[in-house]
Amino acid sequence: MCGIVGYIGSREAYPILIKGLKRLEYRGYDSAGVALINGQGKLNVYKAKGKVSNLESTAEGCDTTGYIGIAHTRWATHGVPSQTNAHPHVSASGQIALIHNGIIENYATLKEKLIKLGYKFNSETDTEVLVQLIDYIQRRDSLDLAHAVRIALTHIEGAYAIAVVDTKHPETLIVARKSSPLVIGIGEGEFFIASDASPIAEYTDKVVYLSDNETASLDLRHGLTITNLDDVEHTPEIQTLKLSLSQLEKGGYPHFMLKEIYEQPKTIRDCMRGRVPESGTYIKLSGVEDNKERFLQAKRIIIVACGTSWHAALIGEHLIEDLCRIPVEVEYASEFRYRNPVINADDVVIAISQSGETADTLAAVELAHKSGAFVYGICNAVGSSIPRATDSGSYIHVGPEIGVASTKAFTGQVTVLTMLALALAKLHQTISDEKYDTIVNELREVPSKMENAIKLCTGMENMAKVFTYARNFIYLGRGYNYPAAMEGALKLKEISYIHAEGYPAAEMKHGPIALIDTEMPVVAIANSDSIYDKTVSNVQEVKARGGKVIAVVEDGDTKLSGMADYVIRTPRTLEMLSPLMSAIPLQLLAYYIAVNKGRDVDQPRNLAKSVTVE
Ligand code: AGP
Repeated sequence: MCGIVGYIGSREAYPILIKGLKRLEYRGYDSAGVALINGQGKLNVYKAKGKVSNLESTAEGCDTTGYIGIAHTRWATHGVPSQTNAHPHVSASGQIALIHNGIIENYATLKEKLIKLGYKFNSETDTEVLVQLIDYIQRRDSLDLAHAVRIALTHIEGAYAIAVVDTKHPETLIVARKSSPLVIGIGEGEFFIASDASPIAEYTDKVVYLSDNETASLDLRHGLTITNLDDVEHTPEIQTLKLSLSQLEKGGYPHFMLKEIYEQPKTIRDCMRGRVPESGTYIKLSGVEDNKERFLQAKRIIIVACGTSWHAALIGEHLIEDLCRIPVEVEYASEFRYRNPVINADDVVIAISQSGETADTLAAVELAHKSGAFVYGICNAVGSSIPRATDSGSYIHVGPEIGVASTKAFTGQVTVLTMLALALAKLHQTISDEKYDTIVNELREVPSKMENAIKLCTGMENMAKVFTYARNFIYLGRGYNYPAAMEGALKLKEISYIHAEGYPAAEMKHGPIALIDTEMPVVAIANSDSIYDKTVSNVQEVKARGGKVIAVVEDGDTKLSGMADYVIRTPRTLEMLSPLMSAIPLQLLAYYIAVNKGRDVDQPRNLAKSVTVE
């Protein structure tokens, strides 16, 4: 979704802004723009459809000087992707420029009023309404920019993170947020702003995460002032950023996605560090330990999430019900928030989100809070909105995930859910010591088994060539591997644009088997688990109808691999941990097919990494 960057200080802003936009490219966008105030107080705005590199070409040879500037990558909501609709938008007076991430829901009403007041609009965006409104209020009441912005925002319904500059005050940058992320970086006599910390990390490790309904004035004379919309000042909470530059770069890999797939043995070690002991079996999850009573009194757990995080949630449901005997319901956050669900005050609601910014998941968290439920977050992006809105939680600690297709976050989420289920099972005394010890000891082996899983994929690149031109794919799995099958299908469709569906293997005969012919590749995921033989029978039914079977099986498997056309092996592990193994070949299969098709693997069309609109 949209990305915003801003700078004010003593350096040339343009190179910092362009670099910042490139760091935010992973969020997904369709146009980009920049506004700078030069030494003579002139506002220069450059915009381009497409990539940030197009913006650089547009601005080449133009005046890009100035120590204050704002820049934006736009993911279209209101109005097509075009140069005109790209941000920044400029006020009628030509003095104020504004960038925005979010949606202004009442923009049509405001636009009508402003048109009656004589304002003319150039773009189809909701954002342009806000810059004209600020301009109108500033002129009507002779206010400084900060006050005009605050008053304008009291008229806005919707979500926003904005940055605003005024040619009359080139020493001040104004920002504000409501339901869209905004981070302020504090340097020596300079400030940075961005949608997340990635454009800021190389300049400073001192950051402030702006909260909802707060505005901030970044002023070279008066420093940082944070105020709410009622003009009451807040003391900024300055935090130290723990983000290294190497985490934000490809490190020799052709794509972030491949780097992130290969990183998984390490990221899962990081995820378990301090939680799974090197010896012994006591799982320490402080979020659970600090809230024992709330977890003990819960008669039900509801998990809300979207996309890949929803697939992890389904695995969490299996784990918690299996080990803790507590009923679990898994909901798409987007459905949950609008369907008047029954939420009891003694429920525990778990929100899973890599970005911690998904608008629907955040809204589901707010809804759960209103019903008095205890809300627990499982997120990756430290300091993002969901961890700040929840009562407690566990970070997955897998480092920044840049590829739009989620890979290491999925395995991190499943790992945290496994630790959570084990900790709850101990708390509820629903697990024998022997079973608990076996699972913890096996969980500790997961990172090194993942290293083997990667090694076992050496033939994947060649195998992917066979399927590059397939038009459809079916992924089958049962039990723990049914969500794994859906996740494999999602990976393929989002980066290769091949239609793919994940099904529980036994459901095939209730309809989807009609799709099977010699043109239909079927990925069957089966471990030597409680329902292995049933899956084998389901695959036999596919084979009998001419389907091409790619079996993802455990090392040493003979039955299913004997009947498959292609075989991918994964290290043996416990049934409940098997999605952590099968995830790797499924991610790599999707990756190589997408590469063969020449797709933009890290930034697939139409997708955004951080879905901050509903
Ligand atoms: C996964 O590969 C996706 N790109 C997408 O489904 C993602 O998982 C979903 O948008 C949820 O994001 P979140 O985990 O950041 O909330």
